[in-house]
Amino acid sequence: MRIDIISCVPNLLDSFFAHSILKRAQQGGFVEVVIHDIRDYAVNKHRTIDDYAFGGGAGMVLQVEPIARCIRALTSERSYDEVIYLTPDGEQMQQKMVNQLSLLGNIIMLCGHYKGVDQRVRDMFITKEVSIGDYVLSGGELAAAVLSDAIIRLLPGVLNDETSALTDSFQDNLLAPPVYTRPADFEGNKVPEILLSGHEAKIEDWRHEQSLLRTKSRRPDLLQ
Ligand code: ADE
Repeated sequence: MRIDIISCVPNLLDSFFAHSILKRAQQGGFVEVVIHDIRDYAVNKHRTIDDYAFGGGAGMVLQVEPIARCIRALTSERSYDEVIYLTPDGEQMQQKMVNQLSLLGNIIMLCGHYKGVDQRVRDMFITKEVSIGDYVLSGGELAAAVLSDAIIRLLPGVLNDETSALTDSFQDNLLAPPVYTRPADFEGNKVPEILLSGHEAKIEDWRHEQSLLRTKSRRPDLLQ
């Protein structure tokens, strides 16, 4: 998979992809993440990428030309399955959406800033609009990072234990059960006996039951 992220604050994203699982995923060749600075596609020598909104109102708007040039430069090199715009008024990100996106080959993610992008960018180039939740961030970078992380960890081979993504919360519409590690007794707080029993089938049953209990009490909406 290849993910191209278009941003006017590309430095915000650098360290996010340079550590831990996301770093290993790139080094292992499971994903290529390429970050692009909108300013590199500005049309004037001052490298301007935003302007006041027509009709007035507070806040700057990212202009259509630099973004169009950037997207066209990418799409002239390869074809893309989705051109995603991260925006609070997009479709709310869910695990099911992430699962579907993880099956694609090439994705562009466009990060908004200020008051957002000129509507013509959305009309002409964007194939999917995604929100990571009902709150407003100062830019789409964190949202692109969240979406990329959720996708990349699902790519086959990225997690050491491949089953661990299958047992995540939200896969199967259930929250994950509690987990424990050593010591078996911490200041009198003991690990449930069943987990020390070695009975694989019984442990599976217990985990499923705990998942159900947790989902019922914390997220009953998932069981509907
Ligand atoms: N940009 C600003 N806020 C956002 C959000 N909640 N989701 C996606 N992109 C955003």
